[in-house]
Amino acid sequence: MKKKRIGVIFGGQSGEHEVSLMSSTSIIKVIDREKYDVVMIGITKNGEWLLYNGDVDKIKSGEWEKEGIRAFFPPNANYKGLITFSNGKEEFHPLDIVFPVLHGPRGEDGTIQGLFEISQIPYVSSGVMSSALGMDKFFSKKLFDHAGLPIVKYKVFHKKEILLDIETIIQIVERDLGYPCFVKPCNLGSSVGVSKAHNRPELIDALQIASKYDRRVLVEEFVKAREIELSVFGNNEPKVSIPGEIIPSNEFYDYVAKYFDGGKTKLIIPAPLSESVIKRFQELALKAYRALDCSIYARVDFFYNEEQDKIYINELNTIPGFTHASMYPKLWEATGISYPQLINKLIDLAFERYEEIKQ
Ligand SMILES: Nc1ncnc2c1ncn2[C@@H]1O[C@H](COP(=O)(O)OP(=O)(O)O)[C@@H](O)[C@H]1O
Ligand SMILES: [Mg+2]
Repeated sequence: MKKKRIGVIFGGQSGEHEVSLMSSTSIIKVIDREKYDVVMIGITKNGEWLLYNGDVDKIKSGEWEKEGIRAFFPPNANYKGLITFSNGKEEFHPLDIVFPVLHGPRGEDGTIQGLFEISQIPYVSSGVMSSALGMDKFFSKKLFDHAGLPIVKYKVFHKKEILLDIETIIQIVERDLGYPCFVKPCNLGSSVGVSKAHNRPELIDALQIASKYDRRVLVEEFVKAREIELSVFGNNEPKVSIPGEIIPSNEFYDYVAKYFDGGKTKLIIPAPLSESVIKRFQELALKAYRALDCSIYARVDFFYNEEQDKIYINELNTIPGFTHASMYPKLWEATGISYPQLINKLIDLAFERYEEIKQ
């Protein structure tokens, strides 16, 4: 059988650029070369698309950018692939499928998925709507709530209200949520712009920080809880992994704890929980996946208050971290699916989804 060409897209314009470089390096290395030719496509922080033919190990450090050739991914269903211009020569590089390994805005939020839809090319991620919903902490909460999933108490405010009338916001937060509370931009990831406010001055700071990143800011009640995550994959019949637990090295799982603590944050797999609690988590994870109509894969994150035996859904990530050390693939490994098998499975699911929705 003729090999298919898979374009792995890495980098991107979000604050999670570096995380994407790490995730994609791991993925590129294990893609089955018997079945696929890998085409490496990087997006710089400035939004420049580059075709990269060099050493995979130069991706993580950013060195790849020097060797990349300017490339265009046309929104044209008759040109599924990349166009490069180099030394005055135009060249077309066809692709059969793309794997966006891009975390955060313009990668995980439905925007790039829209480009793939217009190009009518299969892609390894949820569709436009599900991606956008997964990225938006406010709208995903509304849908989780609607589906009967337990969520933490929250309020949402517009940036304009924060600028014009922070006093009223403070009153509402103090009356309805209290301290400490969590303040987050509605549309980011990797804990960027997320703060825990213990008192009024911290709340004011936190609201101002979060509103730098988004037009809408979410304030949530603090829940004292363990952090439990599950991996899901599938289209019409999604499957769920065993749960894992995160023990952050900092006061909460902030940006530093996520990527720069030199391994002090602990991933415990499987999470020490009773069989019956595991079952509840697994049911809720599948329910959340369906609530946003996800496809291919996602990681679902929960809070678990053990004293009260209460589970809350925190968020759903449609393109979770994907290095060998990341929770998403490690949970599958512990459930019996190796990292290379998992990558193969996700690619197959993307072709399956494409066949199902193509017109
Ligand atoms: N309501 C909350 N109560 C307690 N801890 C929270 C709450 N919201 C967020 N956190 C902490 O902050 C971290 C980051 O928040 P999260 O909403 O998951 O944002 P991100 O999308 O950036 O990962 C969580 O992993 C958790 O440690
Ligand atoms: Mg999170």
